Amino acid sequence: MGLQNGAQAVIGIGGGSPIDTAKSVAILLEYPEKTAEELYEGLFTPEKAKPIIAINTTHGTGTEVDRFAVASILEKEYKPSIAYDCIYPLYAIDDPQLMVTLPKGQTVFTSIDAVNHVTEAATTLAASPYSILLAKETIRLIARYLPQAVAHPDDLTARYYLLYASAIAGISFDNGMLHFTHALEHPLSAVKPDLAHGLGLAMLLPAVVKHIYIAKPEVLADIYEPIVPGLKGVPGEAEKIAAGIEKWLFNLGVTEKLEDMGFTENDVEKLTKLALETPSLGLLLSMAPIKADEKTIASIYRDSLKPISR
Ligand SMILES: [Fe+2]
Repeated sequence: MGLQNGAQAVIGIGGGSPIDTAKSVAILLEYPEKTAEELYEGLFTPEKAKPIIAINTTHGTGTEVDRFAVASILEKEYKPSIAYDCIYPLYAIDDPQLMVTLPKGQTVFTSIDAVNHVTEAATTLAASPYSILLAKETIRLIARYLPQAVAHPDDLTARYYLLYASAIAGISFDNGMLHFTHALEHPLSAVKPDLAHGLGLAMLLPAVVKHIYIAKPEVLADIYEPIVPGLKGVPGEAEKIAAGIEKWLFNLGVTEKLEDMGFTENDVEKLTKLALETPSLGLLLSMAPIKADEKTIASIYRDSLKPISR
């Protein structure tokens, strides 16, 4: 339709999926001979896109301020991401008033998405003092204001700071990149498209932090201080921080683990294979602070089947 009408810009209104769709359309309008599958399988490298205007309605993805987009190729059970400078939105509207009607689940899941963005961006091989600084502030604000937004959905101050946290988390991972929780979540929601991205991340986060703590204890202890206070930042606290993060999630009402979503030990091999084979996820895994081999990926999925602290 955009091609027929000679569209000169694309407006995305919504959360991550609608804005990422707008980004994809903005590229395809410049490459009419290409398909979305070719774009997301990395079969061509776009260098231009129509201008994008992002009107954001959730406080989690950060897509309105970054160069990333995600889409599912359902028949292959792939959920790859793309990252190109040409899809930075030209304009983004972040208005907390648009978020006061978000239901409780989306309120929590979108903020958990932002927590994962910075957990990863602060600990990749490309992490920098800047990505870590933004990570620390993101987690501080979400720990402070998420319970307030859950209790009082129309609290504009809480929504404002959750939205600000989401935006700076987007900037943090636009600089620092991502690794395990996103690379392992995409297979989950590719296999079960109804699974909310943030819930998938929440189920994996404690196990991911447990596995990477040995490589980044000081950074993780520092950025997680508002959620798991009192860590010294020394190896040996991996179980403690993982249990503390899980307790925080449970207190927010997010008690689900992979088994509750119908995944079992029998799915671990397939999910591991998808994490390793889905286009683009290998790049994320290569940025992890510990070796992201088959054994480690399977171990994180296995640790996420049930609560860690049980
Ligand atoms: Fe995300």
